[in-house]
Amino acid sequence: TIALLVAVIGGYLLGSVPFGLVLTKPFGYDLRSIGSGNIGATNVLRTGRKDLALATLLLDSGKGAIAAALAWWGSVAHTGQPDQMLVLAAGCAAVLGHNFPVWLKFKGGKGVATTLGVLLMTAWPVGVGACLTWLVVAAVFRYSSLAALVALSLAPVYGLILIGPIHAAAYLALAILAILRHHENIRRLMRGEESRIGKKKKS
Ligand code: G3P
Repeated sequence: TIALLVAVIGGYLLGSVPFGLVLTKPFGYDLRSIGSGNIGATNVLRTGRKDLALATLLLDSGKGAIAAALAWWGSVAHTGQPDQMLVLAAGCAAVLGHNFPVWLKFKGGKGVATTLGVLLMTAWPVGVGACLTWLVVAAVFRYSSLAALVALSLAPVYGLILIGPIHAAAYLALAILAILRHHENIRRLMRGEESRIGKKKKS
């Protein structure tokens, strides 16, 4: 339907705004040649600018939340009740936009912050659970990627327990996508070469 098309294209375009690059470029940083080369908040943190990393985290998650919220609002305005499929589709489209932005020749990020924003907007208890999971794993192991992999992999479980199968299925798709996007991190983790949060890169 038209509504689904609008939600998906709108979500994709919102998600495709690479806030990490947008915020760091004016300060002369080239994220692509720093750390992992990724456009996300974790790699912005490797510039040493905690403020820019926090802003990237908030804006990258915010765009996922807003994509879902706009679909929610649009479907309520149209039919009088929220269309959960439309809301989830818009959120997933935002994550796809972040990971594969047309502006960066489809070479984007890993979708962790954006997925967290989608979780918080589509099922806040799942979002809170995933954020807490991220914080606990990050506090214990100091790997951003490992924290993301554990948090996003548990999101479909939280979704199934707290919300229902449709949300769980969408979160499972987002978790699989995130795992695929982290293949280099997974390799580094297994070799013990992943960079830890708050530590300067070796050599
Ligand atoms: O948000 C992405 C994070 O999980 C890993 O980032 O830069 O260490 O690949 P990075």
